[in-house]
Amino acid sequence: MAVYMDYNATTPLAPEVISDITQSLSEHWANPSSPHDAGVRARQVVEEARQQVATAIGDKAGDVVFTSGGTEANNMVILGSLEFYVSTGRSGTPHVVTSDTEHDAVTEPIRSLETRRLCTVTWLSCADGGRVDPAAVVDAVTPDTCLVSVMMANNETGVLNDVEEIGRRLARLPNRSHIWFHTDSAQTIGKVDVDVARIGADFVTIVGHKLYGPRVGALWTSPLGQTARPASAGGGGACVALLRGGGQERRLRPGTENTPLARGLGTACRLAAQRLQRDQAHMRQLRDLLEQRLLETGVAERINLRGSPRLPNTSSVVLAGEESGRAVLVCSCAAA
Ligand SMILES: Cc1ncc(COP(=O)(O)O)c(C=O)c1O
Repeated sequence: MAVYMDYNATTPLAPEVISDITQSLSEHWANPSSPHDAGVRARQVVEEARQQVATAIGDKAGDVVFTSGGTEANNMVILGSLEFYVSTGRSGTPHVVTSDTEHDAVTEPIRSLETRRLCTVTWLSCADGGRVDPAAVVDAVTPDTCLVSVMMANNETGVLNDVEEIGRRLARLPNRSHIWFHTDSAQTIGKVDVDVARIGADFVTIVGHKLYGPRVGALWTSPLGQTARPASAGGGGACVALLRGGGQERRLRPGTENTPLARGLGTACRLAAQRLQRDQAHMRQLRDLLEQRLLETGVAERINLRGSPRLPNTSSVVLAGEESGRAVLVCSCAAA
């Protein structure tokens, strides 16, 4: 019997999510910007979903922008940070601080800007334990730094970065308001407690298909993250917008809202928050049992980064008999 252990790549949809999406496909098809009754109801559904996503990460105001997924949310922040740099009156070369263990959805857009000499980058390597050192993040900041992007949890090792400490250290910098702090939280919602206030981030990336939701995402934005677009970049909207168009999503992400999938993401976030305690315990139990059996039976030579703070569902296993580091299996377990 095959056992699916690739939940960090994607999860199946929760039955409640499928049911809500299906209902909205037939009932909430109207344009949420239309003033008639059907439009107003669709608007309510989108706003309810927005609130559910925000609540799952401890935000009361609902400053959430729906996107096509995590890749888009990350690109909005990374590309937007160059406009943000200009909007703060700086005229040198923008500088970005990130780590070399981020997901491709962060490293590739940054590398592309770096290659085209549109920014300079400090690529931090993880210290022992697979974590980014918060002191190294702050040490790397220069007067030209416009973006710090450090993921909350790594999708392959499951190691959790101390983003709260990074946030605290950034907060003490005199030029904090000139720096966007972004964390890719794709792997954490429903697995660990995520609280935007404690992190002190300006942007948080949320991905539905990692938490039993649909294949869409969201970007949480703080007030700093909504800094207005500079006149030199056409004014209006906000620096973070990749697209120009209608006024949807506070102009941050124009285009008619995808009501059914926004609703599905909202439902997935609501369930993730409700079930967090139970799921955490269940995943940790499964993960620990798996690791114990793999070691006992000699299938695994070792488990990577076992002593670091990790996601409760993720295990990075070095298989026995293979050259060290060559055959690494990433197992990610299901919620209860
Ligand atoms: C940490 C992390 N960030 C971003 C992404 C990209 O998300 P999406 O596939 O929704 O664009 C993923 C998905 O694998 C991920 O694990």
